[in-house]
Parts: sequence; structure tokens; C-alpha cells
Amino acid sequence: MPNSQNYDVLIIGSGGAGLSLALKLADHSMRIAVLSKFALTTASTYYAQGGISAVFGADDSIESHIDDTLDAGAGLCDPEIVRLTVTHGKSSIDWLRQQGVAFTEEQTASGEVKLHLNREGGHSHRRIVHTADATGKAVSLSLIERAKEHANIELFEHHNVVELITSKGDAEKRILGAYVLDSKSQRVKTMAARVVVLATGGASKAYLYSTNPQSSTGDGIALAWRAGCRVSNMEFMQFHPTCLYHPHAHSFLISEAVRGEGGRLILPDGSPFMQNFDPRGELAPRDIVARAIDHEMKKRGIDCVYLDISHKPEQFIREHFPTIYQQCLEFDIDITKQPIPVVPAAHYTCGGVLTDSYARTDIGNLYAIGEAACTGLHGANRMASNSLLECLVFAERASEDILQKLPGIMPPPELLDWDESKVSDSDEEVVVSHNWEELRRFMWDYVGIVRTDKRLSRAMSRVELLKKEIAEYYSNFRVTSDLLELRNLVIVAELIIRCAQQRKESRGLHYTLDYPETDNSKPAQNTVLTPQPTDHR
Ligand code: FAD
Ligand code: SIN
Repeated sequence: MPNSQNYDVLIIGSGGAGLSLALKLADHSMRIAVLSKFALTTASTYYAQGGISAVFGADDSIESHIDDTLDAGAGLCDPEIVRLTVTHGKSSIDWLRQQGVAFTEEQTASGEVKLHLNREGGHSHRRIVHTADATGKAVSLSLIERAKEHANIELFEHHNVVELITSKGDAEKRILGAYVLDSKSQRVKTMAARVVVLATGGASKAYLYSTNPQSSTGDGIALAWRAGCRVSNMEFMQFHPTCLYHPHAHSFLISEAVRGEGGRLILPDGSPFMQNFDPRGELAPRDIVARAIDHEMKKRGIDCVYLDISHKPEQFIREHFPTIYQQCLEFDIDITKQPIPVVPAAHYTCGGVLTDSYARTDIGNLYAIGEAACTGLHGANRMASNSLLECLVFAERASEDILQKLPGIMPPPELLDWDESKVSDSDEEVVVSHNWEELRRFMWDYVGIVRTDKRLSRAMSRVELLKKEIAEYYSNFRVTSDLLELRNLVIVAELIIRCAQQRKESRGLHYTLDYPETDNSKPAQNTVLTPQPTDHR
């Protein structure tokens, strides 16, 4: 009896991208599965703070949002994709409100109730629609609630994709489904589907310090790469300038909106420093602010810098930043009275699975949306709050394409079950945890905010060793969730390093001491990697 389940659309990921797509498709007659590696809320989307960029301000314009995005992207954004995304800002926010998301509003002097707009780095206007400082939570919870209500959507928590299944011998390779580990029963299921969508989020967990939840191990990027898709621009890993620095705080972000409301970055002696690096000061794009902090920390041998908003009235701070206020208070930091210790941390993956403007990848009927994809929107540096917008817009684009194509897509043939006959239970789990720790540490030390050729080649030698050890482990032992993540992370690390090694200039988020200038002698090029048979040893 085959151990297989059949769906029209299999969506891997329950973040903003995956759930939006599921809901956009669900009113049409079809069977949709949405997978989540952990609980449904364990996704970057749930932790998003600042908000979603969209043009609502009276003095703002689409052209200004486009110009700011292009400027932050340092010459590598695809202008058509930027325009497409930005022009869908308002309709995306309207759609979220229809799903029940309550955004923060304000009353104007004339009594009119309007969306309150935050300001963040790189944006020349106030244009960040938000729910206080916990926008992602509001979005996630509403989308999950809507998805649970829908008869056409089946939600699978603690289901971790092991491998994509593709056709063999067809003229065009097409997707057929995925092998999926049910982490509770420890069984690998076969999930067949006419369409598969990677909505697996980013890869910031490749680094020792990250703002991301545990799910961000770049699985979708590694799965697509192994299946034969091109991957692009992985050197552009974004480090958020201000993650809370405290021995017991894991990955807690201090939103850029704090700087948007006047928060100043200061050294331990209280002196501000951002004006020495950029005339926009604290509101310069993220790459500039993170590099400035890194520079000051290294030059002065200090563990952190400080972000001070305490000059603002206490009530204003508590109203605008209730989550940040509470979380810091738990660590005995009263942000209404004292500065917040902060450090940069890995935050966002600008590169990913290369897609077109309908989220299509190189494999037939396989799509990628959200942070896992590289659409061309972010170029060499994502502007704050453009990511959730991208999730929504490309969920819409993918839904349009899927709805049009689905009637013509044949159901997959019967698929082979996962074969466990040649493996046994692992005898040394410590190998996985040790390698995980080692990988994240050398990525932080050698492939972080400031790179050199030597550091990159050191990191690559370690990746080669780890890849061999992990491949051996994978072929001998039964898969576990940790092993699957490590196997994906080492591929993602390799892709980041390979892209970084190819770029012989500094641009946006990629900064190398060996080529500190941007090469303006020729048009800017994306870094595109094409998988070769030797890549999948
Ligand atoms: P995610 O929300 O990360 O969801 C990924 C999903 O894929 C998860 O459900 C995960 O379980 C699942 N998954 C992964 N691998 C597998 C697998 N192998 N098998 C099964 N399931 C899998 N952006 C903004 O625009 N505005 C903000 O204010 C903002 N604030 C942020 C604050 C923080 C702390 C963080 C971490 C990010 C923030 N970002 C913000 C970035 C933004 O939140 C993310 O880029 C965006 O939410 C990504 O959405 P996604 O749906 O692509 O992925
Ligand atoms: C933040 O609130 O600073 C995060 C915004 C983002 O990553 O877009």
C-alpha cells in the first residue's frame, strides 16, 4: 500500500508568503497542503516588527518608493520588479485588512482616522504600515486563523521536507511532490502534488548570531539547488544593525522604527557616531549602519554600541514600542530611561532561488516566493519593510499563474516511497550538533559583515570537509530534523561563499577589504550559480 498523499498544490512554509498564497488559491476548487517545519508561528513573519512598506502618505508617491528601493539596492534591483511590487503596496495592505489584520491607526486634527505610518532607514517618507511594534504577529495570527477556517487548506505542523521529487527523462523537468519527515512520528511520507511552492523563508541561521527564528535554515534554497534550480545573489546577506545585546536574550530585534522615531546610536561614552559615516545618520540604509557599528566595535574593542530613545516621552515610547519595552524590561533595561545595548546580527537573505515575475523557477510547476526567492526586488541590499510586501505581491503573482495553468497540469504518476532499508538510527547525535555550531561560527567569523579573499577561502575549506562528513552521515543514518537542517545549511553556506568569491568588488551588503570600491566601470551584474552534476555528491 503506497504511503502517499495527493494534493493539487503543496506549499512548503507557513509564513506570510505561504499562507497568503494558500488563501488566495483556496476559494477555487482545489486541495492545498501547507507545511510548517515546526509550529505554524515559527517563521520570521511572526517576529516582524517594523511593518510593511506601502505608499499611503499624502506627500509620498510610488516614484519615491521606487527610487528609495533602487537606491538601497545599490544598482542591482530589477527596475521592472521594483515597480511591479511597489505599485501593489496599497492593494496588498487592503487584502491583509480584509483577512482581519488590524493596523495601527491615528486620528488627524480634522478627526479623520488614517493608518499610522512608521519611518525606517532608506525611506525618504513615512510609509511603513504597522501594528505597533509587532506587525508580524498580527499578520501571522490573522492568516493562520483564516487558513484554519478554509476547507480546501490542510495545515501540517512539524513536517519537514527532506527532498523534492522531480520527473526523470521528460523534456522539461517538472515537479511531482516531496518526501516529508513527520517529526512527531519520525516517518517519511510521500506527498504528491501537481504544483509545489517553496515558501521556506531565509537562511540567516547560517550565522552564529541572527535575529531569525530556528526555521531560517535556507531549506528551500538548498532543496531547489539540489533539484536543479539556479540560485542568485547569495553574497547579499543582510545584517540588521540593532539586535539586543544581552547574554540571555536570544535573537531579539530592536526595530529600525526606533531609529525612525529619533533613536540615536551612541558609543559607550555617549557620543553619537553615525553622522561620521553617512549624512542620513541613523536612517542610512542598513548595510551602511551595520558596517559603521561593526567598524566602531572593532576599532574600540567594545562588545556593543547603544541605541538611545530615552529622550522621548515615556508614554510615547510605551505606546509605540510596547513589545520592545516589555522585552527589554525583562532584562532590566528600561528603555524610557537608559540606552539599549545593541549589536548587528544576520537578518535577511536577499538572494535565493532565481524566479521570474510570476515566481516560476527553472523546474516546471515549482515556484518560489518570499524570502526563499530572488525576484530582483532587493538587489544588493533590501530596504526595510520591503520584504513582507514582496511576500504578499509574489503570493498574488504565483496564484495568478497557478490558477491559469493548473487545469492543464496532469496529476503526478505513482511515486516511490522513501527507502529506509539501508540506514539505521544515528549512534552519535553529537556529530550533528558539533558541526552545526562549527558552521555557524566560521560563517560569522569569515563570511560576515566585512570579508576578505583569505577569510572566504578559509570558510570554503571548512565547508568542503563538513559536506563530506554530513553526506556520509546522511547516507548511513535515518533522517532527523536536525540532520536535514544541517545538510541544507552547509549547502547554503557554500552558495553564500561561492557568490561572495565571484564578486570582485564591494557593493551593497557585500563588503570586502580586498576590493573595497564598487566597480562602476561596467553595468552591475547579478551573481547567478547554475547547479552542476558534481555539486550533488
Ligand atoms: P517565513 O516567515 O520565515 O516562513 C518560512 C516557513 O517555511 C516557516 O513556516 C517554516 O517552518 C517553513 N519551512 C522552512 N523550511 C521548511 C522545510 N524544510 N519543511 C517544511 N517547512 C519549512 N520584514 C518586513 O518587511 N518588515 C518587518 O518589519 C520585518 N521585521 C522583521 C523582524 C524580524 C525579527 C525578522 C526575523 C524578520 C523581519 N522581517 C521584516 C523580514 C520578514 O519578516 C521575512 O523576510 C518574511 O517574513 C519572510 O516570510 P516568508 O513567508 O518568506 O518566510
Ligand atoms: C525592523 O523592524 O527593524 C525590521 C524591518 C525589516 O527587517 O524590514
